[in-house]
Amino acid sequence: MKPVKVGICGLGTVGGGTFNVLERNAEEIARRAGRGIEVAQIATRQPNPKCNTGATPITADIFDVVNNPDIDIVVELIGGYTLAKELVLKAIDNGKHVVTANKALIAVHGNEIFAKAREKGVIVAFEASVAGGIPVIKAIREGLAGNHINWLAGIINGTGNFILTEMREKGRTFDDVLKEAQALGYAEADPTFDVEGIDAAHKLTILASIAFGIPLQFDKAYTEGITQLTTADVNYAEALGYRIKHLGVARRTDAGIELRVHPTLIPADRLIANVNGVMNAVMVNGDAVGSTLYYGAGAGMEPTASAVVADLVDVARALTTDPNNRVPHLAFQPDSLSDHPILPISACESAYYLRIQAKDRPGVLAQVATILSERGINIESIMQKEVEEQDGLVPVILVTHRVIEQRIDDAIAALEALDDVVDKVVRIRVEQLN
Ligand code: HSE
Repeated sequence: MKPVKVGICGLGTVGGGTFNVLERNAEEIARRAGRGIEVAQIATRQPNPKCNTGATPITADIFDVVNNPDIDIVVELIGGYTLAKELVLKAIDNGKHVVTANKALIAVHGNEIFAKAREKGVIVAFEASVAGGIPVIKAIREGLAGNHINWLAGIINGTGNFILTEMREKGRTFDDVLKEAQALGYAEADPTFDVEGIDAAHKLTILASIAFGIPLQFDKAYTEGITQLTTADVNYAEALGYRIKHLGVARRTDAGIELRVHPTLIPADRLIANVNGVMNAVMVNGDAVGSTLYYGAGAGMEPTASAVVADLVDVARALTTDPNNRVPHLAFQPDSLSDHPILPISACESAYYLRIQAKDRPGVLAQVATILSERGINIESIMQKEVEEQDGLVPVILVTHRVIEQRIDDAIAALEALDDVVDKVVRIRVEQLN
């Protein structure tokens, strides 16, 4: 059978990795796909020194690839929203299948892109868009297809996890570690996407859609980054038996779906609490299977290429199949998507870590306990540290039982209004993940 012809748009970290993996493993890939997968054209403005592209035709214009009649599958690895969207829609219009690693594009414009792809009978595959080399989309969409998924929670930004790990283990500064992540090719072009949780929210949006059968709704995800975390809270969390991880959580409740990204205290003995460096991990809980855990490199040249190439093999295998009987893009048949609403963060339920900076006076703890009990908030553990020499304040740290966030918002407002409480109350959500 004739080889499938692929055009790679973007020869950066992931594009370069994809080219190299396709070349190096060509023989095994052909044995799996049933035919060769050949890179017939590359669009890039500059060569990648890590790739020996040999005689492969190279153009500086991505639309040369999209309009090339010989190309069967366009691999979109340029990133961003605007040009990437134009590229993907044009490729679909031209009847080409698309493989992309672009989580921002899928999370924000996926509903439109998939509708167009269905109309044209082509596949848009996006395994590499979430958690780099971990085949978690395939696992949820296909491997867990018999389940009612209850919740999922994941460390889905390698850069953020790398920064938190280096800060905790080596006492390095935030900026120093971020620079290293950028040099290693983990960080987004705009690294605020990593540290402010936007990248993780893109990925969570995609995972929630395929887990619960809902349209992509990035604009409704609650997003909080890691820039406000302090070493003090990292250390207090450890003393209470927890680790702080930047987590994406999607949970189905009767009232709606929780879709939230934020720093989270996790019991230190959970496997996922021990996922360090650039590694990612996603826990998925289904009614039949129980809890499952998927772990691996969440970013980087060849780990992400591994997912891109797996998608290419999938598309190559599906080329001759009936477009109406393929695995649906978002796991559920498009006319069977649910309109179960996404909950605002104030209606989400979690346990909470609170750190209150109080004056060292009698009765402060009693006032704190009263404010919480009046709002039905049950305290699980409480720790009062010695007076801090520099300001004479006493850090009061407590962990609550699970409660709707609105009640914690009210309690924090009341605590901050106390004469004996100084500064903002620090609030970090706590998940047991059991
Ligand atoms: N910037 C992303 C991360 C790359 O650090 O996880 C992979 O999506």
